[in-house]
Amino acid sequence: METAAKQLEELNLNEWLRSRRSVRRFRPDKVPAEMLDRILETATWAPNAHNRQPWRFVQLASVESREKLVGAMSADFERVLRAEGKSESDIAVQLQRSHDRVLEAPEAILLCLDIDMLDKYEDAPRTHGEYLMGVQSVALAGGQLLLAAHAEGLAGVWICAPLFTPAEVAKALELQSSWQAQGLILLGYPAKLGEPRPRNLISSLRRKL
Ligand SMILES: Cc1cc2nc3c(=O)[nH]c(=O)nc-3n(C[C@H](O)[C@H](O)[C@H](O)COP(=O)(O)O)c2cc1C
Repeated sequence: METAAKQLEELNLNEWLRSRRSVRRFRPDKVPAEMLDRILETATWAPNAHNRQPWRFVQLASVESREKLVGAMSADFERVLRAEGKSESDIAVQLQRSHDRVLEAPEAILLCLDIDMLDKYEDAPRTHGEYLMGVQSVALAGGQLLLAAHAEGLAGVWICAPLFTPAEVAKALELQSSWQAQGLILLGYPAKLGEPRPRNLISSLRRKL
């Protein structure tokens, strides 16, 4: 009987894993609902602390919900751009670009951490560690979600902006009080696949003790 390792070798899964790209421009084609269901379900097979599965997925299917999200994030973005000394016209262009990016993506999924899933501790280091484990678990689901999309011939990108205005995002989307936005994942059929972003040599990143 073939071993799992042998099967993987034939699939060249490592090469396939390396072929995922972050994609920010999509064809207008819709993502079939069953395909999105499969992708989200695969995301939930990510490893996670205590198998507490603290991830939550908010599918922003309506224009209204996406406008609310962008509205909740744009004041902070504008403030940052202004603090960086950007001109009024540059600020307007960048705000419009981020608005259009969210509105035009065929799918937009707000990835959240449900802090009610975390164990409660009395001491601060454990509480902090438990919170980090929740964030790490949600990030693993996000990575797996992007790979599951890749497996379907889709592509996507993780957008970090919701992290900067969590309270505004929660209020605008009327999220449950325990759901904390961790990132926005845009998905769709790629307009084009970019060149790979370079990676640092593994020899510079590892140590053997
Ligand atoms: C936590 C996280 C936050 C990211 N935030 C953004 C973002 O706000 N905007 C963006 O265009 N890409 C964002 N990205 C995508 C990265 O820029 C991208 O993964 C990186 O440049 C490597 O490119 P690749 O994914 O094509 O290999 C983010 C990725 C991660 C994992």
